[in-house]
Amino acid sequence: MKVVFASQTNSQMYVAQPIEWTDGGVVMLDQRRLPAEEISYTYTDYREVAKAIRDMVIRGAPAIGVAAAMGAALGVLHSSAKSVGELQTEFTEICEVLAKTRPTAVDLFWALERMKRRFAQLAAETSDLAGIKQSMVAEAREVHLEKKATDEAIGRFGADLMPRQGRVMTQCNAGALATAGIGTALGVIRVAVQQGREIHVIVPETRPYLQGARLTAWELQKGGIPLTLITDNMVGHFLKTGKVSAIVTGADRVAANGDTANKIGTYQIAVLAKENGVPFYVAAPISTLDLNVPDGDHIPIEERSAAEVTHLQGVRIAPDVHAAHPAFDITPARYISAIITERGVARAPYTESLRALHSAVQTVKA
Ligand code: MRU
Repeated sequence: MKVVFASQTNSQMYVAQPIEWTDGGVVMLDQRRLPAEEISYTYTDYREVAKAIRDMVIRGAPAIGVAAAMGAALGVLHSSAKSVGELQTEFTEICEVLAKTRPTAVDLFWALERMKRRFAQLAAETSDLAGIKQSMVAEAREVHLEKKATDEAIGRFGADLMPRQGRVMTQCNAGALATAGIGTALGVIRVAVQQGREIHVIVPETRPYLQGARLTAWELQKGGIPLTLITDNMVGHFLKTGKVSAIVTGADRVAANGDTANKIGTYQIAVLAKENGVPFYVAAPISTLDLNVPDGDHIPIEERSAAEVTHLQGVRIAPDVHAAHPAFDITPARYISAIITERGVARAPYTESLRALHSAVQTVKA
């Protein structure tokens, strides 16, 4: 099925829609096919949703969380359980299958915990299976709506840190495709541009999966935001000579001390940023904070298939040799100038500032 997968913000800027709950099932835009083709699939089985997450049909930490919530709701909705007890047993299995898809992005586990809490609440209140199913679907849709609101708040806080005019570097894709909202890092850039700031984005291609070249370049171009695509090994050169005013990236998991897991290559950008006096910002929702993990050494790093390194879009580019593919790296907190959340901006010492934001109520930023 070919679809026009877009919505417009108030200011009519293009926003990609990676996932939607529909009456027919969970509809996902296949991000593996971008930018060449805009193809979507409709999933009616939670196992298909789990496979889609694992195979990168949908990717990006907050979007993975939305997909997991919808997958859990889908599993409950299509269950043939005859009692709440039977449904509970199935639901536990559904959550386990979804949890085994990608280990680093904590939003996945955050979303599943939230769906579990809602299920427990409902199971304690009622034995009406149809009612429980509808309420679980409503919860998943609420997770999606909240992500949209969260991104916009992050964008408003982060825009103040962007230059009035200048170059901003990012990494991977932390845009609408990665969050199911307006994006975290790209949301910051988007709001800054809407405020009239003249930003030119420097986009590293982000080997091996090319989320920068394929997805960020596509999103920015569609949104009318000027960009220059570079290869990953040009990052140091551009930070030294390219008049880059700031860097803003997303995150897959932020530890209690501020150490941040993000797409492989982020660490070297942060180190080079410090060397060249460029501020390095992380934009992430509160759901990406994992305060149970003391530091980056305790964040699990996903090892993906070596074929994603030896092959490009199915074409072999290296001989049949051993190849490594850690999908994420850890940027130590000392390289991070600030962490932008929907509740405000955290600065070092992060152990205190992140904990304060985590327990704070939502701050409204005009
Ligand atoms: O492997 P991916 O494409 O899921 O990795 C995505 C990233 O690393 C993003 O930068 C991160 O999830 C933040 S998304 C707002």
